[in-house]
Amino acid sequence: MRVVVYPGSFDPVTYGHVDVIRRARRITEKLIVAVAKSPAKETAFSAEERLDMVREATRGLDGVEVNLFDGLLVEYARQVGAEGIIRGLRALSDFEYEFQMALTNRKLYEPIETIFLMTSESYSYLSSSLIKEIARLGADISSFVPPAACRKMKERFGK
Ligand code: PNS
Repeated sequence: MRVVVYPGSFDPVTYGHVDVIRRARRITEKLIVAVAKSPAKETAFSAEERLDMVREATRGLDGVEVNLFDGLLVEYARQVGAEGIIRGLRALSDFEYEFQMALTNRKLYEPIETIFLMTSESYSYLSSSLIKEIARLGADISSFVPPAACRKMKERFGK
């Protein structure tokens, strides 16, 4: 594929996300990591903070661009000429939500194809929400998130 988007909240970006980004690069010429400006759920970090963390975590990766998007994902995908949407799958529990999203997005914009990539088993248990919970309680999260996100988490949660 020429252009695909990898959308998400990235609140914060984790090594699981970075793993999906690395895998996705192998199947596309250009990967646009699309950070949702206002996702449905409340975020701990602002859109600019989440964007900066993803930018720093992907610095040096050829063919990867990181942008903010607002509004409908399929509208953004159409504007940037993306042929596909990448989503990472960790466990069966992700499937129902992802299935609903993929089919809704297809209904809204038929030409778009959702491609699921399996996260490496080393990261399959990681989630941004669990990482935030343990960071708030003072755990060391440096093996879960890239240095930029680790720094931001320390600033935010003071640990
Ligand atoms: O990392 P997340 O929170 O699982 O990502 C969810 C995200 C941001 C990809 C999804 O909420 C989204 O696409 N939001 C944009 C608005 C939209 O198009 N919603 C309809 C999706 S079917």
